[in-house]
Amino acid sequence: MRTPTPRKAPMRAIESASLVLEPQTATHAAEMFLVLSDPAIYEFENAPPPSVEWLRARFTKLETRASADGREQWLNWVIRVPASGLIGYVQATVRPDAHAAIAYELASAYWGRGLAHEAVGAMIFELVQHYGVRGLFAVLKQENRRSIRLLQRLDFSFASSAQRAAHPIEPDETLMCRDLVRP
Ligand SMILES: CC(C)(COP(=O)(O)OP(=O)(O)OC[C@H]1O[C@@H](n2cnc3c(N)ncnc32)[C@H](O)[C@@H]1OP(=O)(O)O)[C@@H](O)C(=O)NCCC(=O)NCCS
Repeated sequence: MRTPTPRKAPMRAIESASLVLEPQTATHAAEMFLVLSDPAIYEFENAPPPSVEWLRARFTKLETRASADGREQWLNWVIRVPASGLIGYVQATVRPDAHAAIAYELASAYWGRGLAHEAVGAMIFELVQHYGVRGLFAVLKQENRRSIRLLQRLDFSFASSAQRAAHPIEPDETLMCRDLVRP
């Protein structure tokens, strides 16, 4: 049986019912600095960007859309509500085995409205259609109930022991997975 390989494809904007996902570039750094300065985002992990300059340098690096060895595609989209501006981001790391790790952050003023569900769902559709992704996983802190609920609504399940063996995690983390192709 042939091993599945993902497609390498240029990033494009994604439209959903109430959002536009734009390929993230350094030009988004100033507005995203304000979005990502919300302390509520970091209740369980990470910290806000230290400065606009730091974030611009990071976004510039991410515009390569690939890991240093070229094996992984690094896909980052900022999330825009057309009438209000940027509210967060979604990201996917597409590996050579056609599985993708996903992550997402929204400013807390936009939680509780189904917007993360809409944005992540639109990204997943793009990952399948445009990049040939066949499986998804996410690593998150066990205490992050909002994120667990979001992933469960997107048909992710807690990983099996075999899946956990393939993706080592920290003791306070949990691994959630979704197969996109039936065996
Ligand atoms: C994780 C995170 C994106 C979840 O955001 P969210 O707004 O709770 O997620 P959803 O878009 O699924 O919205 C769900 C809520 O909207 C409500 N909702 C309203 N309309 C809805 C709709 N049409 N569809 C789905 N949910 C809807 C749901 O009832 C739910 O409310 P509840 O949490 O009170 O039960 C957000 O908490 C976040 O950015 N956290 C910080 C970063 C982080 O932890 N990232 C994860 C690390 S990978």
